[in-house]
Amino acid sequence: MLVRTPPAASPAASLHELLTEARERTLKLIAPLSEVDLREQHSTLMSPVLWDLGHIAHFEELWLTQNLDSHVEFGEMPGLFNPFEHPRRERGALPLPTLAGTIAHLSEVRERVLEQLERVDFDHVSPLLQDGYVYRMVAQHEYQHNETMLQTMQLKRGEPYRAPRQWNAMEKLPGTAIAAGAMVRFPGGEIAIGTDDRSRAYDNERPMHRIALSPFFIDVAPVSNSDFEQFIGAGGYHRDEFWTIAGREWRAESGAIAPEYWTRDGDQWMTREMDHVMPVPASHPVCHVSFHEAEAFAHWANKRLPTELEWETAASWTPGNGAKRDYVWGNEPPDRTRANLDQLAFGTAEIGAYSANRSPLGCFGMIGDVWEWTSSPFQPWPGFKAFPYVDYSEVFFGDDYKVLRGGSWATRPGAIRNTFRNWDYPIRRQIFSGFRCARND
Ligand code: AVJ
Ligand code: FE
Repeated sequence: MLVRTPPAASPAASLHELLTEARERTLKLIAPLSEVDLREQHSTLMSPVLWDLGHIAHFEELWLTQNLDSHVEFGEMPGLFNPFEHPRRERGALPLPTLAGTIAHLSEVRERVLEQLERVDFDHVSPLLQDGYVYRMVAQHEYQHNETMLQTMQLKRGEPYRAPRQWNAMEKLPGTAIAAGAMVRFPGGEIAIGTDDRSRAYDNERPMHRIALSPFFIDVAPVSNSDFEQFIGAGGYHRDEFWTIAGREWRAESGAIAPEYWTRDGDQWMTREMDHVMPVPASHPVCHVSFHEAEAFAHWANKRLPTELEWETAASWTPGNGAKRDYVWGNEPPDRTRANLDQLAFGTAEIGAYSANRSPLGCFGMIGDVWEWTSSPFQPWPGFKAFPYVDYSEVFFGDDYKVLRGGSWATRPGAIRNTFRNWDYPIRRQIFSGFRCARND
């Protein structure tokens, strides 16, 4: 009998599949929304979803046709969907096309992209094409806008978004019991931060570099809703000693007395995940807190937030040999037994639900569920080079933004890894953000 091994999928075929799958998800997420809901600006913090859709097409056209054709100078493309030309708060007033027009725009660009993909020379010297990088960048961009759209859907005015739930975040998992307050210790030493990967990592993750890191303790689990309720119960929001000056200003301005989306009903806190209203689930990680709330909680607990260097160490460093890994569980890609990612559970899971979601140092739940605030401002790694454009990372470097790590339930698996760096203003909490604490040795 003749045994044939199937031919390895060509790079073009697998990139084609990657882009197609990204688009299927985008369309699945918007399917429950009416055209009116897609056009409305539900919050000045967010774009109308129609804008996100047009921008996905704009970005794809820019990078997979225009800049890929020129090979020399990577340009910007002016227009309705250029984010720098139109700040978020103003996007509600833009003359956005109809949904049908937007879908036609997405398909028209995609058709040209796929047609060109058949002829692409992946051995070309263009650094955009090395390892198919630019295609993965465009897919990741769509993934990231999916999460942005989900923030908008959670903020939606009027009828709640009818989430197309496809699985339960805690299905068929044995789970691990985690002792309350447990911390693990990093013994100190030289460790590797960042990556040299050029097939999918963003410029801000490069280059890999070695740093000396002092010993520290870090929480085994993210801070839970019940932990956070204790902070509230102890008068945490009213006790200035736990808050920085900037934190007090934010607290006064926002009037916050609990995480975003929490409401008081008699003697219990209620919350909402899209169209699902429920008592705050005690054993889930706290979500929708600002950096300031995270920091105040940490001070109340006699702890502090980890730096992003400490976070990445706790997620990726192996005691004994010091080897580094892409995810807390190893180098295999995320799947539904490893982490609560990929959106379709539409909410967080219980802490410890994913036994595999444990780093070699012993931290649980670092990937998925909630982004974790760190104390670090968003700064370039030593040796950073903007690639392929300064507008992804470089224009955001500085002390205004804090780094978040690990991804949330709303993050697609292709847009998270141990070295991935997200950033936002310390006052923001429409993002799917939680935290864990650290302390000095
Ligand atoms: C990395 C989430 C901060 O939304 O501003 C999307 C991702 N960059 N389009 C953002 C991004 C360009 C970015 N964050
Ligand atoms: Fe974008």
